[in-house]
Amino acid sequence: MPTVYVTRPLPPPGTDPLREAGLDVRQHARDRPPTGEELLDGVRGADALLCLLTERVDAAVLAAAPRLRIVANLAVGHDNIDIPAATARGVVVTNTPDVLTEATADLTFALLLAAARRLVEGDRLVRSGRWDGWSPTQLLGQPVAGRTLGIVGMGAIGTAVARRARGFGMSVLYHNRNPAPAAAEVAARLVTLDELLRRADVVTLHAPLTDDTRHLIDAAALGRMRPTTVLVNTARGPLVDEAALVAALAAGRLAGAGLDVFEREPAIAEGLAALDNVVLAPHVGSATTQSRGDMVRLACRNVTEVLAGRAPVTPLNPQVLEGRDR
Ligand code: DGY
Repeated sequence: MPTVYVTRPLPPPGTDPLREAGLDVRQHARDRPPTGEELLDGVRGADALLCLLTERVDAAVLAAAPRLRIVANLAVGHDNIDIPAATARGVVVTNTPDVLTEATADLTFALLLAAARRLVEGDRLVRSGRWDGWSPTQLLGQPVAGRTLGIVGMGAIGTAVARRARGFGMSVLYHNRNPAPAAAEVAARLVTLDELLRRADVVTLHAPLTDDTRHLIDAAALGRMRPTTVLVNTARGPLVDEAALVAALAAGRLAGAGLDVFEREPAIAEGLAALDNVVLAPHVGSATTQSRGDMVRLACRNVTEVLAGRAPVTPLNPQVLEGRDR
């Protein structure tokens, strides 16, 4: 019976689809990432690995698992997996695109509105008992409706954010390596990163983390934004130089930020938590019961398909499948 190593307890349906397919499931029982040693122990002898973005699946992990046929990541992002190393070993890698698009776009808009309208500052004020009533000068934020949104990375999530922005009467600029097919549908205009940073009232990040996008938003990029601009990041923390962001927010060179992801999760940059003009969320973009359930079902399906000798639904290195007996 093929064995699947699952690196964490999962939300419903959990590992039921794997067990129903007759697979032997070994699961890390604690709700924290396995240590490096635990991960190596877990994959040894496994035919499939169902892992999270918190696990670094590198050449050493792959080498410890000579029987491995698939690494199924429970995330759309896959910067935690060395895909060339997996491909070299003939291991299929899959992710969970699409099923989390709307949930992540919703959270992006929640952070955008909360940061622009200083919602968390207001919540703290009311709770503190220090609020002494309506004031015409209190907690003045940035307008959203009718303003310009700049989307960096116009994939499925960026496009879903653009659709929401149209509902707010926003003009949409985007920056992408290639023109996005869906851009016309949301009346989004392709511009350089420089123009986007200079013109957008809200900049939102939806690019994958690669060597090219690490610190895409560094001190120089932050310097191109205006003091009224709001930055939102629900993609990957290392897209932003977090120390430079703290400096820009502290100096009032940026109006605010809404962050769901951080450079060194779960740690955050020194000084960030003390700032009033930032809204912080614990990487919960896809955290709805619907979205997480769909992610689990898709990751399990990818595992069961590959172990049954069929193609997975969402392969990242389809070249591994070529020439394989199906
Ligand atoms: C992803 O899927 O990449 C998110 O960061 C977590 O759902």
